[in-house]
Amino acid sequence: MSSVDQNQPTADEIRDMTPEEAMIVGAELDGIRIAHRRERFPIRGTKAEKRAERGVAASFLIAALAGVAFIVCFIIVPFHWHLPGTPQNFKYFTPLLGGTLAAMLIFFGAGLVLWAKWLMPEEEAVQDRHDEPSSEEDQLLTEAALAQGFEDTGLGRRPMLRNSLLLAGGALATVPLVALVGGMIKKPGNKLFHTFFDPKWAPEGQKYVPIVYEDFRRVSPDDFEPGGLATVFPGVRQEVDGKNGVTDASSPTLIIRLRPGQKIEARKGQAAWGWPAENPQFVAYSKICTHAGCPASLYEQQTTRLLCPCHQSQFEVLKDAKPVFGPASRSLPKLPIHVEVGEDGRQYFVATSDYHEAIGPAFWERP
Ligand code: FES
Repeated sequence: MSSVDQNQPTADEIRDMTPEEAMIVGAELDGIRIAHRRERFPIRGTKAEKRAERGVAASFLIAALAGVAFIVCFIIVPFHWHLPGTPQNFKYFTPLLGGTLAAMLIFFGAGLVLWAKWLMPEEEAVQDRHDEPSSEEDQLLTEAALAQGFEDTGLGRRPMLRNSLLLAGGALATVPLVALVGGMIKKPGNKLFHTFFDPKWAPEGQKYVPIVYEDFRRVSPDDFEPGGLATVFPGVRQEVDGKNGVTDASSPTLIIRLRPGQKIEARKGQAAWGWPAENPQFVAYSKICTHAGCPASLYEQQTTRLLCPCHQSQFEVLKDAKPVFGPASRSLPKLPIHVEVGEDGRQYFVATSDYHEAIGPAFWERP
């Protein structure tokens, strides 16, 4: 029999010990040497202890308040806010959510660290690991160690700490709930189904929205070499919520000129959406990747594939931008285009309608 076995107390002896004594005996039998152990406040209820306790509780309370602020921000702060009298468009929604969430996590973590540093006994232990199965005595000793660990936290005799911890923990637990339930309450509605290509934004006296470059110059078929492409936008200068046709996130669109002999295999009902309608040589697709919204604009003329650099989705242009590789599962939306003759006698592209499906990544309200 080993010396450890000889020194091992019986189950009855262990039951007679205080949890702390049993925890120390158990630790030593298990090859753990308690090198140093000292109560921070050997006399309970001193002013210093109360002060430390209030400090920890204050940290948890701030975490709880930050949690409430997070929920309030989620509900009442608009997605973006235009400062009256200035052209600036401030977007506080995401920074506020991030800031309040960060404050909640920081103060919750700080509370836990301070609790361990200020209130729980100081302890240094050196542990040897072993692979043996545990005996009944070992299990009892482990139980005692856990009980002593709980006792050390002071949770049982410090209601202020316990309640503030519960408050902060509750606030933390609401975060995923806010994201899940709140997303169902604060919905984008049909906003994502409309862009500035909608003919209702056409300039006065015109039927369709002109297609323009970033600087509002109109886009002409003559600008393209065979196999060429350009990023284009709806030519709407009017500002709505601080955005116009060029700056709105849903606008970027690619016009691609096919090479001679290339032919589009169009999706059902979309064969005439390119130009010329009877045998399209120009097609326009949303530039916003249907996987996670990156700009998909790396065009390989040889393979006729559009590549998204973010996660390597590839879209086959000759198959109406159908995804053929990578995580994207939906074709890039196609924009119906046509040309009209401008005042200078040149042909210019227009969008004959809005996109017929939502731009960008999938979301659960998509029909
Ligand atoms: S955003 Fe394009 S592949 Fe992920």
